[in-house]
Amino acid sequence: MPNIHIPKPWEISGREVTPESVFMNRRHFLKGLTVAGLSIAGAPILGCAQNSDSAAPPTDAPKFDGLKRNPDFAQVNRPLTDEAVAAKYNNFYEFGGTKSIWKKAQALPTENWKVEVTGLVRNPRTYDMDDIKKKFPLEERIYRFRCVEAWAMVVPWTGFPMKLLIDDVEPTAEAKFVRFTSFYDPKITKGPTFSFSRLPWPYTEGLRIDEMANELAFFAVGIYGHALPKQHGAPIRQVMPWKYGFKGAKSIVKIEFIDHQPATFWNTLQPKEYLFEANVNPQKPHPRWSQATERMLGSGERLPTLLYNGYAEYVAQLYG
Ligand code: MTE
Repeated sequence: MPNIHIPKPWEISGREVTPESVFMNRRHFLKGLTVAGLSIAGAPILGCAQNSDSAAPPTDAPKFDGLKRNPDFAQVNRPLTDEAVAAKYNNFYEFGGTKSIWKKAQALPTENWKVEVTGLVRNPRTYDMDDIKKKFPLEERIYRFRCVEAWAMVVPWTGFPMKLLIDDVEPTAEAKFVRFTSFYDPKITKGPTFSFSRLPWPYTEGLRIDEMANELAFFAVGIYGHALPKQHGAPIRQVMPWKYGFKGAKSIVKIEFIDHQPATFWNTLQPKEYLFEANVNPQKPHPRWSQATERMLGSGERLPTLLYNGYAEYVAQLYG
């Protein structure tokens, strides 16, 4: 990972400041930058603002033919989140710092998408989306999803276990970690304008290789039975249901098997707030807010947060 420069508060010039009257949430974001480097005093960089966008997002993508729901992941004792609600409340900082970035995210160019898999593997490969769909049998799984900001949802993802990709590329014995890199083109993904160029782009995430091999670790190419809308990370993203949502990089272009723990986007910005491991844990508060409960998108219901987001039986053994 290149050495990423994190701007100090005094490096942000007045001319980069978006007028306060224009975007309240950006002002909030900037306030954080100026008060505490790239943290936020009183509100997270990963913000929890309610979405005020009333337009309906597009949901007309064709459905996957013959998609089967995996019976082991067919329900989670919580109602499914309404599709339109999930599609209008997103984090995709490449396109901006608000929850209503779904319209801006439509600029993401998903045609001829390629995913390069490289590093410490016997079979480095570059897959296009047809290769991926042919090679890895797609299934549907309903997972709980928990954002570090304490909102949660329940959605049906379409995709395949990451373990299948591991088997295809055959990591060598030296491979201990994996780095996932999201699409990045500053001409297209314009982000929060005042700070965009100073954030550690591209968005990256990382896992230990045994976490990636766990049966829950999933690559999603769809949601609610059809291809991923761009705001959810089309055409392929990670879904890590026992970890906070930021561990799931969207719109992945590169997967590298490496021998060391990679630097990652949020952990580089705020190592004390966004841990590399980032397992959901009600007893471990975020430095600035409790993680004891979560707010369900749509209903607004507050529910207790579950250890490992309710997936302890699958993953607790990974953490001794
Ligand atoms: N991936 C990229 N490339 N950029 C992002 O800003 N945000 C993360 C994660 N993946 C993010 C990302 C965070 S903080 C969350 S909570 C989830 O995406 C949100 O996924 P959703 O918008 O599909 O609900």
